Amino acid sequence: MIREKTLEDLFHDTLKDIYYAERKILKTLPKMARAASSPELKAAFEKHKDETEGQVERLQQVFELIGKRAQGKTCDAIEGIVAEGEEIIENFKGSPAIDAGLISSAQAVEHYEITRYGTLKRWAEVLGLTDVAALLQQTLAEETQTDKSLTALADKSANAIAKAA
Ligand SMILES: [Fe+2]
Ligand SMILES: [Fe+2]
Repeated sequence: MIREKTLEDLFHDTLKDIYYAERKILKTLPKMARAASSPELKAAFEKHKDETEGQVERLQQVFELIGKRAQGKTCDAIEGIVAEGEEIIENFKGSPAIDAGLISSAQAVEHYEITRYGTLKRWAEVLGLTDVAALLQQTLAEETQTDKSLTALADKSANAIAKAA
């Protein structure tokens, strides 16, 4: 008889999804930092790259806590979001609108992460995995803060610079 799939299986599959996504983002953030025009936005991407390294390690801890091997599973959503970001770099590089465009694609990434970590954290709580939920909450807080900082940068200058062009 085939074993019925449970919330544990969903949790494990989704963990593999975000593990793949985080490692993809880790490779993408330096490209975004290079493409950014304002030093502040470059610094924001570099800071989040460092944070993302910590987030990958946190996920490895989560795999360990649930007794599974750290393993990714191709995440089509992040592939698509990153591909759109690369398109923005290609089409807007060197133009006054580049930073506004980079912020928009970075925020698409953050929102994807926020939905994933929000779900995983809630599932961890339901499964009684208190330590796992705490780790996921730490990352969720970083993603939420990154999203807010990006909004602040857009409001402060990037949108106005893009518009004045
Ligand atoms: Fe992340
Ligand atoms: Fe992030």
